[in-house]
Amino acid sequence: METLKIFCPATIANVSCGFDVLGLALDAVGDEMVVRKSAKKGISITKLEGQNLPTETHLNVAGVAGMALLEQSDYQGGFEIEIYKKIKAGSGIGSSAASSAGAVWAMNELLGKPFTTAKLVEFAMEGERLASGVAHADNVAPALFGGFTLVRSYHPLDIVEIPFPSELFATVIHPQIEVKTADSRKILKTSIRLQDGIKQWGNVGGLIAGLFLEDYALIGRSLHDHIVEPIRSILIPGFDDIKSGALSAGALGSGISGSGPSIFALSQGEETAQNVGETMKKIYQDIGVDYDVHVSKINREGIKILD
Ligand code: HSE
Repeated sequence: METLKIFCPATIANVSCGFDVLGLALDAVGDEMVVRKSAKKGISITKLEGQNLPTETHLNVAGVAGMALLEQSDYQGGFEIEIYKKIKAGSGIGSSAASSAGAVWAMNELLGKPFTTAKLVEFAMEGERLASGVAHADNVAPALFGGFTLVRSYHPLDIVEIPFPSELFATVIHPQIEVKTADSRKILKTSIRLQDGIKQWGNVGGLIAGLFLEDYALIGRSLHDHIVEPIRSILIPGFDDIKSGALSAGALGSGISGSGPSIFALSQGEETAQNVGETMKKIYQDIGVDYDVHVSKINREGIKILD
């Protein structure tokens, strides 16, 4: 096998209470990439369509993640990468993670799988370091593993796959503005109040338990963020209205997707998730904000091979 065409899923990081540690993969939206072996050493980004992003290897997240893998591989050749972006940069649904994860996943397949998925997360995190200044794993881990993932520890890296109920659906609305993760991290405080920490880790435990137990009400009670959302939500037009609209349309919970500006909601059942999407749309139409909406089941497989 010399060439692979793949689907790289969008992801929702943080999932309200789990800043930098929780994430989930989506099915309905993602990038496509073509990765092929080449005799020339290193990584070349030979095509990039859909977004205006750099193609120089050291400035492109797929290039940087791919180089991290090559540095630990005994393969003597290189790879050419074509990237077809469907996920908008700065949208908050893991645009850079999809490219980073897709590159290293496809390279690993083409090399006969010398690396574990956990190791691929480490390589892909180098792309995230380039994109946001911090090598966070909460987007690349669900992109690579699929489903829901928890980063239990960064040092050493310890990723846990979390089972989740089959009727769980996500709705995401993206107001058409770009928020760079690096910028939305700079506005965060570096310390938190103990009372907020107590609420937050109660919710992280509750969300994980709710997912395991398939207890939708517990999932809903746990989807709160007392630390990051109060600060970042000011960057997002109509955030409070969208969130309360989603809840009144039947969502279990709602919050900022990753570093924003997208807002996500989780629902039990596709019909409710669609109703949540319609409600969100109407709110943005009323206040004159352009948007994209995605309704998606949770992607269990992560990256997939296309034809
Ligand atoms: N955990 C990261 C953040 C996700 O919130 O900054 C970025 O998509």
